[in-house]
Amino acid sequence: GDHGHYDFVVKEASYTRLCETKKILTVNGQFPGPTLYARKGDTLVINVHNQAKHNITIHWHGVRQPRNPWSDGPVYITQCPIQPGATFTQRVILTDEEGTLWWHAHNDWTRATVHGSIQIYPRHGSSYPFPAPHQDVPIILGQWWKKNVTEVLEEFLASGASPNTSDAFLINGQPGDLYNCSKQDTFKLNVEYGRTYLLRIINAVMNEIMFFAIDGHNLTAVATDAAYSKPLTREYMVIAPGQTLDVLLHADQKPDQYYMAARAYSSSPVIPFDNTTTTAILQYIDNQNPPSELPRLPYYNDTNAAFSVLGALKALASEEHPVSVPNKISTKLFFTVSINAQPCPNTRCQGPNGTHLAASVNNISFVNPSVDILEAYYYHITGVYKNGFPSISPLMFNYTADYVPLNFNAAKRGTKVNVIRYNSTVELVFQGTNQVGSSIDHPMHLHGYSFYIVGYGFGNFDKDKDPLNYNLVDPPLRNTVVVPRNGWAAVRFKADNPGVWFMHCHLERHLSWGMNMVFIVRNGNHPKSRILPRPADMPPC
Ligand code: C2O
Ligand code: CU
Repeated sequence: GDHGHYDFVVKEASYTRLCETKKILTVNGQFPGPTLYARKGDTLVINVHNQAKHNITIHWHGVRQPRNPWSDGPVYITQCPIQPGATFTQRVILTDEEGTLWWHAHNDWTRATVHGSIQIYPRHGSSYPFPAPHQDVPIILGQWWKKNVTEVLEEFLASGASPNTSDAFLINGQPGDLYNCSKQDTFKLNVEYGRTYLLRIINAVMNEIMFFAIDGHNLTAVATDAAYSKPLTREYMVIAPGQTLDVLLHADQKPDQYYMAARAYSSSPVIPFDNTTTTAILQYIDNQNPPSELPRLPYYNDTNAAFSVLGALKALASEEHPVSVPNKISTKLFFTVSINAQPCPNTRCQGPNGTHLAASVNNISFVNPSVDILEAYYYHITGVYKNGFPSISPLMFNYTADYVPLNFNAAKRGTKVNVIRYNSTVELVFQGTNQVGSSIDHPMHLHGYSFYIVGYGFGNFDKDKDPLNYNLVDPPLRNTVVVPRNGWAAVRFKADNPGVWFMHCHLERHLSWGMNMVFIVRNGNHPKSRILPRPADMPPC
């Protein structure tokens, strides 16, 4: 495909929200950041210049980057940070992705303000699998802290308890009417009566799954994470951090103004969060009547309402957009995802009963190395990471029982990878747990791949019965799956992309606590099934 070129200058800029001005990290001074435009199969080349005082890395979320983990971006997994004053040229290699993805910073909590959309259009001469919209518009859900986000992160890590709640949710960078000093800058979408619009919704929020709706209008989902889906029409949508959802909006109501709104869905009763609604305005052209009612959104902890949308999204599975779900599985993985209560390293821990909270996959709480794993793998540097991340949870217990003792098992800290043979067919079951009594939904994200979500359910996964109900016909293709609170989710993919690929919960606090692991997918025998050569300008460690 074409080679679109972009310059990303990472720098600080002043922004005013909620009556206060502060400096934030941005790309090109923009918040949200610039949009990348591509067609299916294109390669984009992005020169990332760091002119800020903070280290940075940039990740192209959902771009599979065949054989090119070098440009993937997660800090200390595939690269060391781009230091202030340095430049790194990244290649964004698109293949089958079509629809909406996004890019974001991938170190510390810098992604709070450093993110933007990637819009991938059909190839020339080809078209959407639905009537062409009049216009397409990114709708980026975000989050704002009055404090410096680095400080929020540091305080959170030191306390060992949940982070401070943010001060606002945002739609396209704006909190909207219901927050102080925000009314006049509320985002407005102007529409013409009778037209159809494609909303490219991105959840760039740090720590919450979101409900989204527009008063008086149904929404029709047509793509999940840049893969076309069967049209699904609902009054509200649900979208987890990391996920993208393309929805059609028909401007077919009385020409007026209407609220669009998003609000957190938080499945855990014990986690504090901001339950204010962020709003924007849908305005039929030339219509100045102020909007009257907020759209109806489900109650903040309505798990059934969330999964009645998430579970109803299905792949389009048409002749032009077929599914290819692996049928014979060569690699079966079973990963528990847990919150753990750790012994307090000092006397100041504010977790339950004076503990320090952590998070884990298969009871290993991931620790970042100081040289990136990709470099260590490529150059055979020893002592950076260990093989042998368990394929099956080493702990067997009643994962979702009401009462799992607080210190049932402190997680082990470590930097372990799971090594997979090239072209293995993988089934991965995520099992949520109720350790520390803190069961909550986990949006688990895999780099380097999209996977088919073949099943999910509540309670403990039953390896004999649950697979009988898998959907192998039209399972949604995504890069982020929501593992239900006190439940499980099963995904399948073919490991045909050699490289070092991060997998983690996309709730930022869980990532920071270690709910992460790394896959190394080995090279195949053919030269075309090996990792590309290492670019000369990789940021030094
Ligand atoms: Cu959205 Cu590891 O990333
Ligand atoms: Cu999580």
